[in-house]
Amino acid sequence: MRYERITDVVGATPLVAVDALLPDVARAAGVHLWAKVELLGPTGSIKDRTAKALIDALDRDGRLRPGVRLLEPTSGNTGAALAMHAAARGIPITLVMPANATEERRHAVRAFGAEILESPAEEGSNGAVALARRMAAEDSTYVMPDQYANRANPDVHERTTAPEILADCPEVDAVVAGLGTGGTATGLARFFARAKPNVAVWVAEPMPGEKVTGLRSLADGFTPEVLDDTLLTGRILVSNRESIVAARELARRTGILAGPSTGATLAVARRIARDAAPGSNIVFIACDAGWKYFSAGFVEGDLDNMDDALEGDVFWW
Ligand SMILES: Cc1ncc(COP(=O)(O)O)c(C=O)c1O
Repeated sequence: MRYERITDVVGATPLVAVDALLPDVARAAGVHLWAKVELLGPTGSIKDRTAKALIDALDRDGRLRPGVRLLEPTSGNTGAALAMHAAARGIPITLVMPANATEERRHAVRAFGAEILESPAEEGSNGAVALARRMAAEDSTYVMPDQYANRANPDVHERTTAPEILADCPEVDAVVAGLGTGGTATGLARFFARAKPNVAVWVAEPMPGEKVTGLRSLADGFTPEVLDDTLLTGRILVSNRESIVAARELARRTGILAGPSTGATLAVARRIARDAAPGSNIVFIACDAGWKYFSAGFVEGDLDNMDDALEGDVFWW
């Protein structure tokens, strides 16, 4: 396969069978479990799709005039993906991140030549959002993709992620996404409501007070504008421990090295598999690669202290 540029190598990810991870009762009933392996993109996450869609939407709206600079509050996957797309298209970009973001996160965007602007550590990701929004309001050279409010985010999943699942698994009965901005879940739900309404669309959400890196709990008091939960089958709560255990098992038993949010979607998929009709097909999103979490003790860290170990990673979306 030949491409003009790396930004074209986004999406069209494979479904990989992981039936070995099903509960015995589900496997005996002929249920099938599939990972939608989003971690294969250029920056190793589903945000390669989102970032491309956000930048393309700005371009279509005529907002990428010469002299503009992209500005987004994120120290996570979206930051790395935006930085990659911006580098490939020659657009300067500034990412606002809390001053305590880890070195790994800084490297993941600086490697692409992105500029980092720090917001106060104690204000967390909300402080980064507030600072970026203030800067964009005061200076028109800044253009903010704004993944939390830009409908290009759910749209790209409705247009690409969901149809890919249906094309590769026409017999799909249920899909499970993680809840970050809500873009993936909303896009999947909109597509299946139209294309195959009996498909259940579940989201994995951290239990209140739990930090599952990459995901957010609606109980934290912030509901992203792009999230439309009216078409979702339901939200299923997972703990960080369950997510990490599931992600470790995925790597050790199937060879797919994915991060904690994938552990969360896998854990939810296994729960619904127990009650699934014989022969059902369940797809979960493998959102990002696991190597990004090594320094946080992801591989062998003590699970009882995992919340603390991943503290520095809670802005990873
Ligand atoms: C690692 C990871 N998993 C899952 C998600 C959730 O995706 P979405 O923002 O589409 O809800 C994100 C981003 O938010 C993420 O970075």
